[in-house]
Amino acid sequence: MTSQTSDLDALDRLTNGRFTCRAYQYKAVDAGLIRGIVAMAGRSASWCNVQPWQLVITETLESTERFREALMERARSYQENESDLPFPPSYEGIYAERRRGAGIALYSALGIGRKDAERTTEQAFRNFRMFDAPHVAIVTVPVELGPYALVDAGGFISSFLLAAHAHGVATTPQGALARHAHFVREYFGIPDSQHMVCGISFGYAQGEHPVNQFRTSRAGVDDLTRFA
Ligand SMILES: Cc1cc2nc3c(=O)[nH]c(=O)nc-3n(C[C@H](O)[C@H](O)[C@H](O)COP(=O)(O)O)c2cc1C
Repeated sequence: MTSQTSDLDALDRLTNGRFTCRAYQYKAVDAGLIRGIVAMAGRSASWCNVQPWQLVITETLESTERFREALMERARSYQENESDLPFPPSYEGIYAERRRGAGIALYSALGIGRKDAERTTEQAFRNFRMFDAPHVAIVTVPVELGPYALVDAGGFISSFLLAAHAHGVATTPQGALARHAHFVREYFGIPDSQHMVCGISFGYAQGEHPVNQFRTSRAGVDDLTRFA
């Protein structure tokens, strides 16, 4: 096998094998391995190589637990959206359709019916438990660098998910945590000069859990490309 073929095989396995994990084993990831994932994700491209991404990571089960408890308390007592970046006001057309498809796949995997408001709300609240993940990374970028820093951060997040997956570590990118951005930044002492993009919860997946069994679909090449 040539090295190009093996690179392609590996990338194919990684991009197709990664999925958003929503049930974790309660087992810490080795600190050296976490550093390895961050270093690999840090190889991402960025405009002018400014590398605007910054991370705060809960390194131990205890620090994750303290944050989890604090975040759940906040989410219970404060329902307003205090994100640094505006959330989409609504999803329409094809975007609404794709969003619905992902939601149906998630809730059917758990046997939650469309009209079961109580269980739907309960499952949505699990975001603030961070799905019991043993670690979370908070991703921020400097406000002063504007929207392209967010583009760079998106690339970094994608690399982080793949790098973690390559190390056998499952991930959940979590926009839901950014709903409480002011609280999260204050909790971790992250200054106002940074915008919180999202959280990435991570750890070892509960491989057999029903919520980890479904896979989302993707638009085809012709749906997202116009060859000119
Ligand atoms: C920026 C970003 C924010 C996300 N926020 C959440 C979230 O708050 N909760 C959640 O369960 N999944 C979240 N996801 C995961 C998406 O739902 C998931 O990536 C999408 O449905 C495709 O599924 P897959 O990752 O399993 O391929 C987020 C993904 C991204 C990239």
